Amino acid sequence: MSEKPKESEESDEPAAPDLLEQVTTVLKQNDRGNYTVPSENLYPHQWLWDSCFIAIGLRWLDVDRAQAELTSLLRGQWSNGMLPNMIFSDAPQYRRDRGVWRSWLNANSPDGVATSGITQPPMLAEAVWQVGQRLNAAERKAWYKQMLPSLVAYHTWLYTDRDPHQEGLVLQLHPWETGLDNTPPWMAELHEHVMPVWVRAIRATHTDGIVNLFRRDLHYSPPGQRFSTLEVLSLYDAQRRLRRKAYDTDKILRHGLFSIQDLTYNCIFIRANTHLQEIAKAVRHELPAELLASIQKSEQALEKLWDEYAKTYWSRDFVTHRLLKVPSVATLLPLYAGTISKERAAVLVRLLEDDKKFGPAYPVPSVPLDSPNFDPDRYWQGPSWMNINWLIIDGLKRYGYHDHAAALTETSLEMVRRNGVAEYFDPVTGEPLGAHNFSWTAALVVDMLHQKQ
Ligand code: GLC
Repeated sequence: MSEKPKESEESDEPAAPDLLEQVTTVLKQNDRGNYTVPSENLYPHQWLWDSCFIAIGLRWLDVDRAQAELTSLLRGQWSNGMLPNMIFSDAPQYRRDRGVWRSWLNANSPDGVATSGITQPPMLAEAVWQVGQRLNAAERKAWYKQMLPSLVAYHTWLYTDRDPHQEGLVLQLHPWETGLDNTPPWMAELHEHVMPVWVRAIRATHTDGIVNLFRRDLHYSPPGQRFSTLEVLSLYDAQRRLRRKAYDTDKILRHGLFSIQDLTYNCIFIRANTHLQEIAKAVRHELPAELLASIQKSEQALEKLWDEYAKTYWSRDFVTHRLLKVPSVATLLPLYAGTISKERAAVLVRLLEDDKKFGPAYPVPSVPLDSPNFDPDRYWQGPSWMNINWLIIDGLKRYGYHDHAAALTETSLEMVRRNGVAEYFDPVTGEPLGAHNFSWTAALVVDMLHQKQ
């Protein structure tokens, strides 16, 4: 973080009120009543971790609406506790999106609500807790009581369904479950082990241009800022394999489809478990002993992902336990988990300070600058994202790195103030990329501006 964007005159307040107004307008535009779409055209449904980040911002503007954002997620919850990453709009024009997933193939899916068949990082406990901080004591208790059963069901499902060997680490079955869709460690696995013959054929014959004609995302942002077509085809193929098994984890694992204990996901889960326990304590509810035992195991489990030689954390293949040694911003997320030692945290903070790795002018890049996979424009392969910054800032504060947290808050706000409410940003130039008027960028600006005060 050595080379900071220069403080321009107009960046000294009074720019802040304008920024707040601008992001509030974005949230209003994307409001669909009880939930907020991530962006108007590109993402017309409700997404799990998006709604959590959105509620964290909305709690400062309208706490009732923030609560609605989170309770609306529960209409998609499956009877086994799973929270899907997408709840589809029931508008007729999205029949195709619903049909791609066919959640109704699984008996646990809810009646009358079309969802995906996979989940996303478990940010819900954090969001519930944060919204609770804006309520008075009585309201907070009622709020926590209302949300607790669904949270317990979700976390219990994560352990029973996604940690079959009781390792304290949960597995993911598709890159979309990590929220960092095309992050290099997952893409490397997908290309090496899962890319189907027909996708290889398209690669060999260079016919991927034809497929581009059918992609919604390319109507709204240039190809260089999205997935490559081969990546998209592989992702959809991997999704179809899960659908063929009706999203039944046992069957999926028995057929040896790929499964990874993702670092980012597990860090968020560890933090979520801390919040779950705080929420339960606040309403004097005793969590089931089995769940508590699993939570305890997770607190140490990140150490299984530590590479003493490279002095870093990695994701891991669930079956072989091979560490996936491909650099990405996941490396820094143990700061957010909050369970690693101070010494380990210091090692990660040094990576954040290094301007050849995670410290360009507009941090934090989703892939370190010195990685061969770094591409400043391409989605989760280089650009900076506000939600990742929010997680890292939160972790830095809890490890006592208040100056680092303040500096990262400033550069994050500056990135949006100068370049607009984009989905993601070039970490070197700050150029806005992807969708415009992106909801979690807007919401997290609201939160950062308020937390600064
Ligand atoms: C993309 C992002 C994912 C997000 C979704 C909706 O798929 O990678 O993290 O939840 O868009 O914004």
